[in-house]
Amino acid sequence: MAERERDTLSVLVLNGPNLGRLELRPSAVYGEKSWTEIAAEVSWEAKRLGVTVSFAQADGEGELIGILQKERSGQDGAVINPGGLSHTSVALRDAIEAFSKPVIEVHLSNVGAREPFRHPAITGGAASGVISGLGALGYRLALVALVDMLGRERP
Ligand code: DQA
Repeated sequence: MAERERDTLSVLVLNGPNLGRLELRPSAVYGEKSWTEIAAEVSWEAKRLGVTVSFAQADGEGELIGILQKERSGQDGAVINPGGLSHTSVALRDAIEAFSKPVIEVHLSNVGAREPFRHPAITGGAASGVISGLGALGYRLALVALVDMLGRERP
């Protein structure tokens, strides 16, 4: 147990389509921050928590699935915002399930309060939890949640 406590947790932060170019998207919905600014806040939170984070972004479903498959063995958990694929992709949901580690899904906007086509939570159904509508703070809170969950899993 003492040995495990010294380990640094590794968390993958993975963004889906269109999240790499937040500055092109409506700030009334997604906020004023660029992904670079949000990533800096996440890195700050990770440092505070003593967690190692790696960031990835892809616009394609297959690429995202490949990243989850590749990263699986080296990560303790993941924070994922699958963007629009959240509401459509059974394949990405299956990849999240196969990741077999705690995953928190994050949405900048409150998808439940938006258009009906954003209501299906296809990928979120495979996540351990979903944070929606808290803007950039959601990513930091997801890290806090993961550290708490992974801590409780320890022997
Ligand atoms: C989003 C919500 C999705 O409906 C949308 O397609 C996105 C971003 C969010 O972070 O609020 O691309 O995942």
